[in-house]
Amino acid sequence: MKFFLDTADLNEIEEAASWGALAGVTTNPSLYARIGGKLSDFHNHIKRICDIVDGPVSAESVAMTRDEIVRDGRELAAIAPNVVVKVPTMVEGLAATHTLAAEGIPVNMTLCFTVPQAILAARSGARYISPFVGRFDDISEDGIEQLGNVVAAINNYDFTPNTVNGEQVEIIAASIRSANHVTQAALMGADIATVPFGVLKKMVAHPLTDRGLDAFMKDWEKVQNA
Ligand code: E4P
Repeated sequence: MKFFLDTADLNEIEEAASWGALAGVTTNPSLYARIGGKLSDFHNHIKRICDIVDGPVSAESVAMTRDEIVRDGRELAAIAPNVVVKVPTMVEGLAATHTLAAEGIPVNMTLCFTVPQAILAARSGARYISPFVGRFDDISEDGIEQLGNVVAAINNYDFTPNTVNGEQVEIIAASIRSANHVTQAALMGADIATVPFGVLKKMVAHPLTDRGLDAFMKDWEKVQNA
């Protein structure tokens, strides 16, 4: 499993990149708004992220028609070679993905919740598919079970010919809210988990690690004073 950071915050991205386990970044309009992002600075901001991260950086189109999404997608892809255009799962999004993929522009199909949506995304040429986990949990449904269904269904088929540059479509477990979500997503074979920085920090920690470290430090003091 690879880890992407789900944020538009440059400090978080720089810190996570310094840990050496960061394979990419996903942003969305809400995450950009959360850091006080301005429309006029959006492309520059994506460029700054691309300069930090040696991996795919998803930048979302907010257009609603296929022609506008394609235009948006071309502009976003021109920012840097590692930009991936994030496109919502909808009819216009599928049509735009079909065009963008044919031009060699990688698409991350977002707001994906069901198996049929995921298969349509893969058929349209999406390079990445992002099934959302936490938002199912928010409405008292089992997001992990839904993710498992998407992973199993996509892995039943070979979508290689439908993706950019012959690369296999990859599933990004998205809307991740806990380290346990990451565990479950890894066990079911999701290719990538995109996680908020808070979850990434929690993934490192365990109370037994803290307890063990504390005991080692105390015993080492005894050795020093012996
Ligand atoms: C995916 O790429 C989205 O940016 C993200 O994972 C959404 O997560 P949320 O449901 O916590 O907003």
